[in-house]
Amino acid sequence: MIHQKQMLHHFKFSTTVYVFFCFTLIITIITTQAATDLSFIQSYCPNTNTFSSNTTYQTNLNKLLSILSSNSTNKNGFYYTTVGANNPVNTVYGAFLCRGDRTQKECKDCVSAASNQIPQKCPKAKESVIWLAECMIRYSNVSFFNVAAEVPVLALMNTGTVMEQNRFMQLLADTMNAAAVEAVNGGGDKKFGTKVANFSSFQTLYTLAQCTPDLSNSGCEKCLKIATNYIPSCCSGKQGARVLIPSCNIRYELYPFYHELNVPAPDEPRPNPQGKKSRNSVVLIVAIVAPIVIILLLTLFVCWIISKMKRIKFNSVPQESVEISRVEFLQFDFDTIATATNNFSGDNKLGEGGFGEVYKGMLFNGQEIAVKRLSRSSGQGIEEFKNEVVLVAKLQHRNLVRILGFCLDGEEKMLIYEFMPNKSLDYFLFGVCIKIHFLIF
Ligand SMILES: *[C@@H]1O[C@H](CO)[C@@H](O)[C@H](O)[C@H]1NC(C)=O
Ligand SMILES: *[C@@H]1O[C@H](CO)[C@@H](O)[C@H](O)[C@H]1NC(C)=O
Ligand SMILES: *[C@@H]1O[C@H](CO)[C@@H](O)[C@H](O)[C@H]1NC(C)=O
Repeated sequence: MIHQKQMLHHFKFSTTVYVFFCFTLIITIITTQAATDLSFIQSYCPNTNTFSSNTTYQTNLNKLLSILSSNSTNKNGFYYTTVGANNPVNTVYGAFLCRGDRTQKECKDCVSAASNQIPQKCPKAKESVIWLAECMIRYSNVSFFNVAAEVPVLALMNTGTVMEQNRFMQLLADTMNAAAVEAVNGGGDKKFGTKVANFSSFQTLYTLAQCTPDLSNSGCEKCLKIATNYIPSCCSGKQGARVLIPSCNIRYELYPFYHELNVPAPDEPRPNPQGKKSRNSVVLIVAIVAPIVIILLLTLFVCWIISKMKRIKFNSVPQESVEISRVEFLQFDFDTIATATNNFSGDNKLGEGGFGEVYKGMLFNGQEIAVKRLSRSSGQGIEEFKNEVVLVAKLQHRNLVRILGFCLDGEEKMLIYEFMPNKSLDYFLFGVCIKIHFLIF
């Protein structure tokens, strides 16, 4: 009897620890949302148009990339320049564009990462475009200022699907159009717009549209129309996607992937300039407080149930099962993951830890993923979960990697992350608790 009581205390203690870490993590995730995501998204370089090494063109290109890097605190997140204008054959035209919600510092970090990566992704290309998560660099031997470049159109999607697809696609079209209108007519020197809409009581749709600010309003509108019209054919029913065109881009997700508080207010009469801001902070506070309250209540309820129970099953994980049933829409099926990782082949294995193995994989849309396959042995559960949570708490938030979803199939438990090249394995070895992020936002 006494023994059981001690166990109960122990359990309550670890539940408190769990709640505390989740709390810390939620705060961390919110902060992380504001930090720069330097991950490579896509590059485009036609290999028919190349230069040879040690030519003036290469020298000019290197000069251009370094000028772009050093001007990347430019106020509106866009900069266009030319190098070698005295010799038309070797002139290089270039520009960068940062996502409209980025601060100068975030823009600078992103542009310098992009300018480092572009020669590796597109060696010897006379023209190319590289997209990182939050900025783009483009250069060419042909001037493109004020010209709406409408090809190529690249689409990337979040593989998770939504329920009620028809209603979702209609809401998406309406919301994305509103974001595009805001981008076209939007205030200041950025052509950037965002719009939010409620899809269901627990799913909010976030959309973003942006053009390079050198475009005319009609050029921007035309480009965004091409991007928006592309969604039904590439990404119907998907819970997130980006369409990338050199002159404009759009993105939507079911989580706030941009930094809402930094979004420039559209040009409209604003008798009370505080109005928008305070409304946003109310939303933010609700977004922070509501989930915490829910988690606390849930935990108290679980504790109460357990204290009612005579026999304590130490290994049961009630919280986890509740979460998983509510984040089902992020579920990948086993076959998708098996295909992506070449049937969990040894070649794809990045490493392993006490919890299981980590594999690299590629989804059919080309997205690289890291798959954490939790070990099947029965002894796992809450202990292992706790270990992970402790590990997460120790990590700095810049190291958080975006989780795409999970896979549950019989004994299999897997977590699917965005793969970050050049990151150590540690990067992928944590994160069960991050699911809560998706549960809430
Ligand atoms: C380019 O120039 C460098 C230094 O002048 C030289 O070491 C290198 O071999 C040259 N490369 C080619 C392909 O000519
Ligand atoms: C750009 O490069 C391509 C391929 O080398 C060439 O055909 C084209 O004439 C160049 N354009 C300019 C403006 O130099
Ligand atoms: C979404 O729903 C919340 C409350 O349910 C409401 O306060 C908010 O205004 C809604 N947002 C939009 C864009 O309709």
